Amino acid sequence: MPVAIITGASRGLGLALARGLVEAGWDLVVDARDGAALAASWVSGATLVPGDVTDPAHRADLVAAADRLGGADLLINNAGILGPSPQPVLADYPLDALREVYEVNVVAPLALTRLALPGLRERGGAIVNVTSDAAVEAYPGWGGYGSAKAAVEQASHVLAAEEPAVRVWWVDPGDLRTRMHQEAFPGEDISDRPLPETVVPAFRRLLADAPPSGRIRLADLLVAAS
Ligand SMILES: NC(=O)c1ccc[n+]([C@@H]2O[C@H](COP(=O)([O-])OP(=O)(O)OC[C@H]3O[C@@H](n4cnc5c(N)ncnc54)[C@H](OP(=O)(O)O)[C@@H]3O)[C@@H](O)[C@H]2O)c1
Repeated sequence: MPVAIITGASRGLGLALARGLVEAGWDLVVDARDGAALAASWVSGATLVPGDVTDPAHRADLVAAADRLGGADLLINNAGILGPSPQPVLADYPLDALREVYEVNVVAPLALTRLALPGLRERGGAIVNVTSDAAVEAYPGWGGYGSAKAAVEQASHVLAAEEPAVRVWWVDPGDLRTRMHQEAFPGEDISDRPLPETVVPAFRRLLADAPPSGRIRLADLLVAAS
């Protein structure tokens, strides 16, 4: 059975992807900071390792749990935070908040990737770094989160050039109706945004096709899948 580590799988996109992979026969190691919420969202089919991706010991626990299942074939760096809500413009962005956004969204996934890389190389595995259109578009107010995702994208790009034995995909899921999205649009009705479950077929398509490393918009794969 293939093994995946998925960070941030207690709700939103991470939970939807995780459920989709369990259905497809994957063994999973999943996390979130809130262990009670993580446990409440899962009945069976995944190893739950509650913790914070910014904690080095927790990251080691994730990889060790995957090793006990035979070793990770896939690492999905999905856990992320928006930062302050409403999002401040860059001129007013509190630097401590910016550091936290970078720590969770950039440094932690890169550090987890480094831990998982030796096994991923051996198994010809893959890394998915979840990104956003905010990484490539200049939306006013999105400078903190967006620049962090831009850093994720460029780190992914360079990693792909450095690691030919591993697929590296930086994946833009599109707008999704999740807690983070609601935080980005406080007080607004976001009920027109699709639920995260809607992108699972495109994600499965990505894994099945295993294209070369690169930037992936799930919306493009959804069109191809329909
Ligand atoms: N929703 C969108 O429209 C959208 C669009 C483009 C990209 N994305 C990206 O998609 C990914 C998932 O976002 P989402 O919308 O599903 O967000 P979400 O509903 O807020 O879920 C985030 C998940 O990450 C976990 N998490 C957050 N910080 C963590 C940490 N430090 N350590 C471990 N787990 C942590 C959360 O659980 P805890 O709070 O319990 O830790 C939760 O399980 C993110 O990378 C986001 O940037 C989302």
